[in-house]
Amino acid sequence: MQIKSLEQYEESYKKSIENPEQFWGEVAQNFRWRKPWYKVLSWNFEEPNIKWFEGAKLNITENCLDRHLEHSADKPAIIWEPNDPEQDSVTLTYKMLHEAVCRFANVLKRNGAQKGDRICIYMPMVPELAIAVLACARIGAVHSVVFGGFSAKSIADRINDAKCKLVITADGVYRGAKPIPLKDVIDDALIGCPTVEKVIVLTHVRTPVSMLKGRDVWWEDEVKHVNAVCEAEEMDAEDLLFILYTSGSTGKPKGVVHTCGGYMVYAGYTFSNVFNYQPDEVYFCTADIGWITGHSYIVYGPLSQGATTLIFEGVPTYPTPSRFWDIVEKHKVNILYTAPTAIRSLMSFGDEPLEGKDLSSLRVLGSVGEPINEEAWHWFDEKIGHGKAPIVDTWWQTETGGIMISPIANVTKTKPSYATLPLPGIQPVLVDENGVEIEGNDVSGNLCIKFPWPGMLRTTYGDHERCRQTYFSTYPGMYFTGDGCLRDEDGYYRITGRVDDVLNVSGHRIGTAEVENAINMHAGVVESAVVGYPHDVKGQGIYAFIIYPNHHQDADLTKKDILQTVTRVIGAIAKPDKILFVSGLPKTRSGKIMRRILRKIAEGETSNLGDTSTLLDPAVVDEIIEAAKNKQ
Ligand code: WT7
Repeated sequence: MQIKSLEQYEESYKKSIENPEQFWGEVAQNFRWRKPWYKVLSWNFEEPNIKWFEGAKLNITENCLDRHLEHSADKPAIIWEPNDPEQDSVTLTYKMLHEAVCRFANVLKRNGAQKGDRICIYMPMVPELAIAVLACARIGAVHSVVFGGFSAKSIADRINDAKCKLVITADGVYRGAKPIPLKDVIDDALIGCPTVEKVIVLTHVRTPVSMLKGRDVWWEDEVKHVNAVCEAEEMDAEDLLFILYTSGSTGKPKGVVHTCGGYMVYAGYTFSNVFNYQPDEVYFCTADIGWITGHSYIVYGPLSQGATTLIFEGVPTYPTPSRFWDIVEKHKVNILYTAPTAIRSLMSFGDEPLEGKDLSSLRVLGSVGEPINEEAWHWFDEKIGHGKAPIVDTWWQTETGGIMISPIANVTKTKPSYATLPLPGIQPVLVDENGVEIEGNDVSGNLCIKFPWPGMLRTTYGDHERCRQTYFSTYPGMYFTGDGCLRDEDGYYRITGRVDDVLNVSGHRIGTAEVENAINMHAGVVESAVVGYPHDVKGQGIYAFIIYPNHHQDADLTKKDILQTVTRVIGAIAKPDKILFVSGLPKTRSGKIMRRILRKIAEGETSNLGDTSTLLDPAVVDEIIEAAKNKQ
């Protein structure tokens, strides 16, 4: 199923559009099913109601594990590189991983988990995280992985929204120089989580933790009580596989739901094609499993294709900014998939960290998470790929389950900062504000997808109407991505960034409304407005305009207090980079904050603010500009 030439791509693409059911039916033949489907696709985007491979039965772990045992039992499935380079790396073969997953699946059962139960996972980037994810899938439990950087309150909200019965965590995590507690955060979260019955705790950093009798058990003890035989649960293609929470322009994060069959086919197919994975290659994706990139392209995609996937616990700059390059050299990494923010950060250290590093194993490079600027693209190409490794700039989203618009390595001619062409099966359209499709080339508009693909979200957990409203109502009959996009004269796509109130900070997706809510929870804050501004390393930084009439004499102290509140409510990733105290916000007569104006001010623009005549009090703008100038 690997596309090897542009002609093959064009052929596949044509077929996928003209006869999607036949196309995906054939792709799906490359996977192991317990029972075949009777219908490849039924759909409507009005409700929406989307079903792929109806009637089919499978278990995704049989595709990620069991089916490789016959020929690749001793092939490395996971290579784990710890935070501390002095510590040994760990290799798990497919046989070992299969055994570990089955054993832990039995631990889950022993602790009361059953098919359909929701299980929250809050863990460091260790092999046991992948084992926990796969063990849930093995028994048909629905995993909800929460990124290790989120606060107790964020975890509690997610646990309660999904009514999780179990939590899997670790005592702590090593990220850079110091260990960070995880179990403590879970303990705080669980004060307000009545549905959680059991907590399974992995020993990793071995800091003291509180273990509550009857609720908390140690991973290491539990695995001693079970054997390593665990028949995979038979799942319907449309049974839930996982929930992953993601931010939008309004309200609390939504639980994006992915199902077993379509997601598996899409993650596997796109992994194999985009990266052109070859047997025996080592593949390294630097994302965290707590985000969709880790789900699809550290765990499910690579393992479904029998690949060797490298899991790294640490950060790019610890102990030195050579860390990535040392890992590439040590494990002879062939494919490196990372984020523009990491590239820009490493770029800022100059050439020295690269000196003497053997990067000759690298064959394909990948970028994901945000638009990659040309400077970073060229640096990645020249310094890391030595001009010989194609860069696949992969555009996709939590909701899409897998890569949508991207070059195919060694097939598609790349172009700096362009995600290039849609993968087979993907029908992107650009629309204007009225939802009218903009045809032809050299045009730009809002990016929509007009036909279903197997990896797409099915609903938002517990609130289908919210799914319909968020993604399918803005432009009826289409899935709206929230991104702006241009299509150049060659028909190549370039994503220009979000057109809604969603920020992308270091590749992390954060809603402005979410940050505002957190700031507004701070005593003394009357109102706030948050916008993004261009940031050299993070891509976007967070700029908060805050009304706080009687703040402490030492304004910096008050700002730190506010940052502490945001850290408590969401997590450190949502802390504003800049705070400006103001006495009013630019609002329309109907009370709507005019963010357009604030965005310009945050970008350093002081004139050309556009039409301000509809403002309730235009004077407030001059005041904010003045305050912003004084700050700089
Ligand atoms: C948003 C999705 C998908 C994995 C990581 C982020 C932006 C993602 C690209 C890219 C330009 C990109 C979009 C998208 N984005 N990849 N290659 N070029 N922008 O997942 O948290 O769901 O965020 O990230 O704005 O909508 P996510």
